[in-house]
Order: sequence, then structure tokens, then C-alpha cells
Amino acid sequence: MAEPIKNPSILLIVGGGIAAYKSLELIRLLRAAEVEVRVVLTKAGAQFVTPLSLASLSGNKVYEDLFSLTDETEMGHIELSRQADLVVMAPATADLLAKAAQGHANDLASTLLLASDKTALAAPAMNWRMFTHPATQRNLARLRTDGMFFIGPNDGAMACGEFGPGRMAEPVEIFDAIQTALNRTKRTDLHDELCQDLAGRKMIITAGPTHEPIDPVRYLANRSSGKQGYAIARAAQAAGAEVVLISGPVSLVAPPGVGFVGVETAREMAAAVEVALPCDIFIAAAAVADWRVEADSDQKIKKGSEGPPLLRLTENPDILAGVARRVENRPPLVVGFAAETENLIEHARQKRMRKGCDVIVANDVSPAAGVMGGDDNTMVIVDAESETVWPKLSKEDAARRLVAHLGRILAKRS
Ligand code: C5P
Repeated sequence: MAEPIKNPSILLIVGGGIAAYKSLELIRLLRAAEVEVRVVLTKAGAQFVTPLSLASLSGNKVYEDLFSLTDETEMGHIELSRQADLVVMAPATADLLAKAAQGHANDLASTLLLASDKTALAAPAMNWRMFTHPATQRNLARLRTDGMFFIGPNDGAMACGEFGPGRMAEPVEIFDAIQTALNRTKRTDLHDELCQDLAGRKMIITAGPTHEPIDPVRYLANRSSGKQGYAIARAAQAAGAEVVLISGPVSLVAPPGVGFVGVETAREMAAAVEVALPCDIFIAAAAVADWRVEADSDQKIKKGSEGPPLLRLTENPDILAGVARRVENRPPLVVGFAAETENLIEHARQKRMRKGCDVIVANDVSPAAGVMGGDDNTMVIVDAESETVWPKLSKEDAARRLVAHLGRILAKRS
């Protein structure tokens, strides 16, 4: 790993979005870590935060105008981006990203981006419809190919009252990404840590429990909430993948921009996977019921004098093993989950072999771990070579990390 840059300096472009207020906190964090910050404020950005706040926090003059003679005599505009070790756009609005993707140079921010050969990191922030619009997705794919890095956006409530992907990453997340970028002078290292480039890839993800009918009103089920699978679908979509999410019954909202198929039973899930194939990455995050009732009743089973009914169970199709063992259209990367309550790694290793998949994501679902239905997860990644224990992360962060990890494996294989 390369040595961290001494006395690092960044050029921060603040675009016009409500998230601009978070950039004030970002500057505070950077200054506390002794990072020099020079701010460029766009015209729209100035509608949300004042140059005075930005100047006070950064301790530097704020640049706003491409044609300012005073600025030009103090420090040539082009110098601004040359002096920085890293260019950061936060918030990176749809408009700023579109300009950058097209190579416009009609204001100070776009001119600096075009004139800079420094690594650029963008924290997109916009309404989720704008974010998922094909035009924005096209611009993001273009910029990724051109070498720009991205942090976020996250899913969440938006200032406009809607909910979805497009909320700017939190200041501390952007700060961490900046630190990562500043500590890596080799682009490939940075690429490994920050890039989740899955543009042009297709992912199929199963999620949630399955419900296996006993009669028209009763069913066998399990405690899966679907949270982890849904978070993976969102992370994969944010990384540019085309995503098909095949979900059993859960109380979650299908992520916008994701192809969604709702199913009830294991057999329906297996059939939906069959229809959705082929793909580049298949992730079986669903807690599929191992058994179903062999002959479920057409009518509600009545309490009777014969005592409780005897339910004869029969095995469900193993969707993961079925996909992993396909001869035709086997996805290049097949990933399963292993929810275990004991001997986590050993069981996961055996499961990987038994199912024939490439990677098993193991997690401890003993009640004490609080994973089932909870918001956090401690993942252990088991592949043919190794087992890696990841720290306890929110399901969202774990999903992002998993997607980035799988993206890297796929990139190495193709
Ligand atoms: O065999 P077990 O249920 O422990 O394996 C868990 C993994 O297998 C998960 O990835 C789950 O989605 C997948 N699975 C499946 N179809 C089944 C049972 C499990 O796809 N019938």
C-alpha cells in the first residue's frame, strides 16, 4: 500500500441540493483531520448554503465565478484543481453529473472537472426518480468508465417527502471515502476499495421467506424479514447492475428501479428464477422452506374428533443447488447464504461444496446474535480458498460491501 499523502488538500465542489448543508459538516470533519479544503460553490449551491459559512469552516476563500478577475489574479482557476490531491463533488447533483459526463465547461465547477487530471469522487444526491432515470444512470456509467469514483447515494427519506435511493451519503461516510482515496495513490487500489462497477451486469437475488400452504388459511413459514436480500438488491442497483429481485412474502417495499417478482412458495420462487435466468451473479438470500406439505388441503382443516391432523412433508426444490449445478446458463458467480446457529464456518464450508456454489455468505442466526429481523449482520465470506470474517455492519453496509466484493470477483474472472 502506498504511503498516505502528507498535508493533503481537496477541492470540494458544492452543488445545488438540499444535501449541501451536510457538506458543512464534511468540511468540519476534514479540517479536524488537517485536510486542506478549497471550496467551489455552484450558483445553485449558493441557494442552499452561503459562501460565508463555507469560508468560515474551510478557512479559505470560496470560489464561485469562472470569470472573476480577482480570483484569476490570486490563483488561476486551473490551478485550483491542480493544487488539490483529490476533487470531491458533494452534493453531486444530477445536473453536475450530466455536465461532467458530457464534458461541459460552462461554469467554474464543470471547467475545473474538465481541466483536472486528479482523482474525482462524487457523492450523488437527488430525488430517487432522478437517480433511477435512465439518463442519470447513463451518465453515472459513463463517469465510472471515465474513472470517477462514487460514494452513495443511500436509500432513505428525502427532503421532498419521498423515499428511495438518492439521499447523499452521510458526511462521515464521505469523509471515510476521502481518507481511503487520499491514502491510495495507486488508482487500482482505490478502484478496489471504492468502485462497485456492475454496470452492464445482471443480478438475480432471491429474498425473504417462503410460505408453504397447509390449507387455504394456514401455512408453514420462517422468521426471515427479507431485509438483507432487499439491501443487496438496492446496493446492486446503485452499483449499476440490472437487478431482478424475487421475493417471498415480506413487509418491505420493492426497491425502485429493480425488477420485482413477488412469490409465495418455494416452487413459485424456483419457477421465477428459471424465467429470470440467465444472469452474471445469482444470490440466493431467501430463507426457502426446506419442506412443504405433501398434500395441502383445498378446504380449511377443521378441528375434529380424530384429533390433530398429521402433516406429511415433502422436500422442496433446492433453488441454489439447482442454479449452481446447471450445465447451460450457469451464472459465472453463484452465491448462497448459510444461516447457522453453531459451527458457522465448518457448516458453511460443507454447504458450499454440497450446493456447488462459488461463495457462501455465512451468518450466525442464533437468537443472541439478533440477525433474524434485526438491522445488523456479521458476515463470513467463504469461498474455495478462504474464509473471511467481516466486522458487524448494518445490513445496508454489509450489502454494499458484498456487492463490491462480488463485483471484483466477477471482474477478475472476465
Ligand atoms: O440448505 P440451506 O437452507 O441451509 O441453504 C441455504 C442456502 O440455500 C440459501 O442461500 C438459500 O437461499 C438456499 N436455498 C434454496 N432453496 C432451498 C433451500 C435453500 O435456494 N430449497
